[in-house]
Amino acid sequence: MKEQLATIRQQALSALEAAGSAQELEALRVQYLGKKGELTSVLKMMGKLSPEERPAMGQLANSVREALETAIEERGRVLEAQALEQRLKDEALDITIPGKPVKIGHRHPMYIALDELKEIFIGMGFTVLDGPEVELASYNFDKLNAGEGHPSRDWSDTFYFDTDSRVMLRSQTSPMQVRAMETMPLPIRIIAPGRVYRKDEVDATHSPMFHQVEGMVIDKNVTMADLKGTLNMMVEKLYGKGTQTRFRPHHFPFTEPSCEMDVQCHKCGGVGCPTCKGEGWIELLGAGMIHPRVLEMSGIDPEVYSGWAFGIGLERTAMRQFKIADLRLIFENDVRFLEQF
Ligand code: PHE
Repeated sequence: MKEQLATIRQQALSALEAAGSAQELEALRVQYLGKKGELTSVLKMMGKLSPEERPAMGQLANSVREALETAIEERGRVLEAQALEQRLKDEALDITIPGKPVKIGHRHPMYIALDELKEIFIGMGFTVLDGPEVELASYNFDKLNAGEGHPSRDWSDTFYFDTDSRVMLRSQTSPMQVRAMETMPLPIRIIAPGRVYRKDEVDATHSPMFHQVEGMVIDKNVTMADLKGTLNMMVEKLYGKGTQTRFRPHHFPFTEPSCEMDVQCHKCGGVGCPTCKGEGWIELLGAGMIHPRVLEMSGIDPEVYSGWAFGIGLERTAMRQFKIADLRLIFENDVRFLEQF
């Protein structure tokens, strides 16, 4: 029995030493220490020994079992460490491979122009408003003194949603004048940028959707001189000191008097060239003193308060600023074009 135990011990230890995986190790544990294992069967034979032999043999058997258990545990730890090492090797990342470059976009030229405009007016104490593109005809027309029969209400000019012409895509940002007057405390200084819609064919200077920025001031003793001063300052900040402007009489139903403002052509400096169609000037915006009836309709006393408003086309502003010849480039979103700004 003594020899048997010694053989088991020796064989088991060398087999354990050679075990290459956790499964192999477990198989060996069952083979020696399991219920029907080799060591277990030897232990079962203990009962046949004489009482004198039993203690010494028992001790020996126990020490063999302990030796095997320790060996299994140790081998287990070694195999675990090896497995971890292998996994780390397999899953290693080569951090020296250059990463994919991140493409950073940039602002659209029209939004660069808008941001500059916002900055100019915020600097003068104006608030920036946002308003609905789907608008009531009463705000787009009636409350702006363009009642039934006004030519701009025509079905061939305006996108209506309903057959009785009450809901529409706004044709101008001017309804924001009314929305501001109805909701804001006086005095009011606002700009309101946004999309507007008209039934126009697309060409180099037209699009059925384009952007405007509305501006409005209402206070006591506001005059046309304030309007001109503010717009001249805006033009100098946008296009550089000394840029010449020209105010021409015009007509809008909601302003009286009304005007259009031109800036001197950036291409020819006012002599006349193809860019300005030989005029020397380029039209930039419409403006005027708010019509007393418009103030009154929005609940403001025209005897106490006066105001001015303007509406500037944003695409045209950007086109002039960046010397873009065709309006369609603004909407096509061709990266080769956009990347230049
Ligand atoms: N809403 C006018 C247009 O679209 C522009 C404008 C705005 C004129 C404010 C006067 C005052 O043509």
